[in-house]
Amino acid sequence: MRGKFISLEGGEGSGKTTAMHFIREWLEAHNVPYIMTREPGGTPLAEDIRQLILSPRDEKVNDTTELLLVFAARAQHLAEKIQPALEKGVWVISDRFLDSSYVYQGKARGGDMAMLDLLANWVVGDNKPDATLLLDVPVDLGQARVIQRQHQDRLDKESQVFHQKVRDGFLERASMDPKRIKIIDASLSLPLVQQQIEDQLLRLSEAWSGAV
Ligand SMILES: Nc1ncnc2c1ncn2[C@@H]1O[C@H](COP(=O)(O)OP(=O)(O)O)[C@@H](O)[C@H]1O
Ligand SMILES: [Mg+2]
Repeated sequence: MRGKFISLEGGEGSGKTTAMHFIREWLEAHNVPYIMTREPGGTPLAEDIRQLILSPRDEKVNDTTELLLVFAARAQHLAEKIQPALEKGVWVISDRFLDSSYVYQGKARGGDMAMLDLLANWVVGDNKPDATLLLDVPVDLGQARVIQRQHQDRLDKESQVFHQKVRDGFLERASMDPKRIKIIDASLSLPLVQQQIEDQLLRLSEAWSGAV
């Protein structure tokens, strides 16, 4: 049976990486075969592209350049890692996926939505996640959590206005596709966030015979 594909979305500091650790423990406890991955990246070539995208640099990064790099990495990630795993019955958990492109390169940077749809249809097509967990936090709380972390990259350093557009953009995506995108209130304490995530994992595993 085909594996389940789950993506985690949300702004910086919303708790995606923290959720990945919890999901890993849950899948192991329930003997579900899985791989954890992330975007941009996930394969050696796609991770090289990630470095190109996220490195702080003096040169202005053209929006179209960033968009194409993200989708180039995604094409490689899907073909070489995600699809082969799903076909073997392995669940794939990705820290970010397609919705981040719509939100960062589209909504937040004012990118061309028709171009995004074109690239999404071409590169992703029907290979969308079975479920997307949107970790939603107010911008101030996300920023306060990011500041606790040491390393900051180019996107972490964007303005408050940018981060608000990111949050609103994700919520808009969720309202457009509520069957796939589940909003997790990530402003709550860790146990309460994990409870919401576990509810979604249970829902997905019920439709996936064999493991749980
Ligand atoms: N529910 C939570 N309550 C309090 N702190 C949290 C919660 N979730 C995550 N954190 C902390 O916030 C910071 C950012 O979380 P992280 O998982 O790295 O976010 P992301 O990967 O989405 O940028 C980390 O220091 C993490 O320990
Ligand atoms: Mg993270």
